[in-house]
Amino acid sequence: MGSGQSIHGQWSSRLTFILAATGSAVGLGNIWRFPYVAGENGGGAFVLVYLLCVLVIGLPIIMAEILVGRRGRRNPMDSIRVLALAEGRSPHWQWAGLLGVLTGTLILSFYAMIGGWTLAYLAEAARGAFVDITPAAAERMLGDLLADPWTMLFWHSVFMGLVTAVSVRGVEGGLDRAAQLLTPGLLLILLAMVGYGLSTGDVGRAAHFLFAPDFSRLDGEAVLAAMGQAFFSLSLGMGAIMIYGSYLRSDTSIPGSSLAIVAMDTAVALVAGLAFFPVVFANGLDPAEGPGLVFVTLPLALGQMPFGSGFAVAFFLMLAVAAWTSAISLMEPAVAWLVERRALSRLRAGLIAAGAIWALGILSILSLNLWSGYTIAGRTAFEALDYLTNNILLPLGGMAVAVFAGWTLSRAVTADELDAAAPAYSAWRLLVRYVSPLAVGVVLVGKLLGG
Ligand code: TRP
Repeated sequence: MGSGQSIHGQWSSRLTFILAATGSAVGLGNIWRFPYVAGENGGGAFVLVYLLCVLVIGLPIIMAEILVGRRGRRNPMDSIRVLALAEGRSPHWQWAGLLGVLTGTLILSFYAMIGGWTLAYLAEAARGAFVDITPAAAERMLGDLLADPWTMLFWHSVFMGLVTAVSVRGVEGGLDRAAQLLTPGLLLILLAMVGYGLSTGDVGRAAHFLFAPDFSRLDGEAVLAAMGQAFFSLSLGMGAIMIYGSYLRSDTSIPGSSLAIVAMDTAVALVAGLAFFPVVFANGLDPAEGPGLVFVTLPLALGQMPFGSGFAVAFFLMLAVAAWTSAISLMEPAVAWLVERRALSRLRAGLIAAGAIWALGILSILSLNLWSGYTIAGRTAFEALDYLTNNILLPLGGMAVAVFAGWTLSRAVTADELDAAAPAYSAWRLLVRYVSPLAVGVVLVGKLLGG
């Protein structure tokens, strides 16, 4: 069993690790991204492919990431390098780890912008701006925000400030405490919201949209989007879960924890969709409306509820917290890398990483207004960053981890770390060696060849 500790410290308990990893996984991906991507790709069949991806790609790869991190006890680049060298293999595997550090930086640049939207909406909710709002007014509210780079920059900065404040306090004083306080709070508010949504909305129609597969809508693009969403939602493919694994005690079961994290993340996405689409249909909104979907539908729904203002504050608070705990994990590989590789203090590393990400985020902010005319292959900077990271870099990073854990690491090492009953271990090894890399490869190549 891998022993020792990361120089950054470790989680205070098995539960804290699960809370931290769940806090990473449950985020804007579940509540903001899943509904609109499902909506854009026709619903039911997309959801089915998504669930399949979670099971045959997500679950084995989350176990692979945690085990590589825990065995390596370093930032993703060096964990991979050290483990490769210990097997007498090429150190060049480390570049997959460095790619992850960069991918996380790219993702957080636009993720923080959306995190800023949640804060802006929290402020609107607090002053009762959603009460009896009309669909047109809700659309206008979002339109006004997106047209205003200064307001977006303000909230983007506040959001990055929150992320940095936790990150610079380190693992034991920052990330660990944040996980203990924020994740349970987040799950509690979500549960209350969903209970309310399910008791009032037209759940039947939402369930039909989400679960009745219409395979005519399922093209290569939709399958790629489902796979990208699985990576994004589970925080896989860039070393976030890997670095969280590097802070995990050696005696914690990896398969058991992975199962808990994946189950929680998937449940939140599905339940959020079930509570959310009734509002879309009841107000005649277009499920394929795009990234603004939640920010138009929710004010509408919340504005019509009794005690809507209170619920609206609770909801956007929950969304902001979900984004916050995820963003912390998106930055952690870069921070750990700077501390270990550049011998910086945690404070400096955090400030440098956050500063770079903050500056890069301005690109996404401007791509929604002043620079919306500049496109790359028909996509604005924000759309291009989202597409490149989610649909290409995360699957590539995930495939690299799968191949690394399945083929480069010896059976002795992975069996020791996973410590699972023989049939479960064999199933994992089969998935991580053949099924996950092939599935990712087929989807990526199929799409490249114009599927
Ligand atoms: N999983 C988070 C969400 O669903 C986002 C996230 C956090 C993430 N860490 C990540 C996505 C690492 C990809 C990789 O909102």
